Amino acid sequence: MATATLETTAPVRDTFPINGTDYIEFYVGNARQAAHYYRAAFGFQLIGYRGPETGTRDRASYLLQQGKIRFVLTTAIRADLSPEARRIAEHVEMHGDGVRDIALWVDDARDAFQKAVERGAVPEREPIVARDDDGEVVIASFRIYGDTIHSLVERKNYRGLFMPGFRATAPHFAPSDVGLKYVDHCVGNVELGKMNDWVDFYARVMGFRNMLTFDDKTISTEYSSLMSKVMANGNDRIKFPINEPAKGKKKSQIDEYLEFYKGPGVQHMALATDDIIRSVTALRDRGVEFLSVPTTYYDELQGRVGRIDEPVDTLASLGILVDRDPDGYLLQIFTRPVEDRPTVFYEIIQRKGARSFGAGNFKALFEAIEREQELRGNL
Ligand code: FE2
Repeated sequence: MATATLETTAPVRDTFPINGTDYIEFYVGNARQAAHYYRAAFGFQLIGYRGPETGTRDRASYLLQQGKIRFVLTTAIRADLSPEARRIAEHVEMHGDGVRDIALWVDDARDAFQKAVERGAVPEREPIVARDDDGEVVIASFRIYGDTIHSLVERKNYRGLFMPGFRATAPHFAPSDVGLKYVDHCVGNVELGKMNDWVDFYARVMGFRNMLTFDDKTISTEYSSLMSKVMANGNDRIKFPINEPAKGKKKSQIDEYLEFYKGPGVQHMALATDDIIRSVTALRDRGVEFLSVPTTYYDELQGRVGRIDEPVDTLASLGILVDRDPDGYLLQIFTRPVEDRPTVFYEIIQRKGARSFGAGNFKALFEAIEREQELRGNL
């Protein structure tokens, strides 16, 4: 597994400063029930709400938080009342529940938006200022792959909970967290031949660099393959791997996603923890289902990654994968898709020195997905 190419050139200057992921917004069919799932199964807290009770009549949004991770789950209540609500309903009809917006936290949203558009981004929403008694938030958005967007969020003049329109909630049901801390990376699946277009987009528009490339020979099984390039921003806090299918004997998992999501979109989000054994144990106990790996994976583990702190038998019983990069190692595990369409899933990741990704796990993941694809009749 040595054919992944790690690019070592560091950026000279960050031409598109981003502080971090601000929130991830999902458009879903039933936000109230989806919120319950993320609270009960993933240990998120429901901290805010916007809907008819707060004066927004056409849609409802639930704001969930765990560590620095913020999810917004939004549904249309009356698609006939506004173009915005109609767009939400159409998104859900087309894609199923899915990610609409990977929102990025910036110091100056107007400036970032202007730069992005000058460099070729397609605007979705011009900068608007949302105000309430706690100050103001400036937000603007541009389009990325499929129906997905990046919002740019400036909140330096805001002291409120999240954003004007949201009301704080303090529900009786408040399950304990599972130790999830921040969004490590968000992966996009795009059509055959489009990966490099999006790699170029992130480089040109947002000054990202290609930190790692997996070619179709690295990530291939007997049946199918994919290609992936990891794009990272100036401070390496934001990583957007882009996958595209590659030709194989059978249908690639990326093709399956594209077919069921009806186009490109976010495939998985990786949520970081400081204690993956604790987090994964808790998630499993609450009903989150993970992909399994063959026990032979662990027979070869020590030879492949060397000494690690965690007991291998515990990792094997939970199905946690281990990989190395030049700086250290990482532990990761992948959930099954979290909805009926085989589209969006999650990764739980713990980094112990490693800043990028290893190729060995990618292949193990790919084979695990393929076993499930076969059960679905989509291989
Ligand atoms: Fe990942």
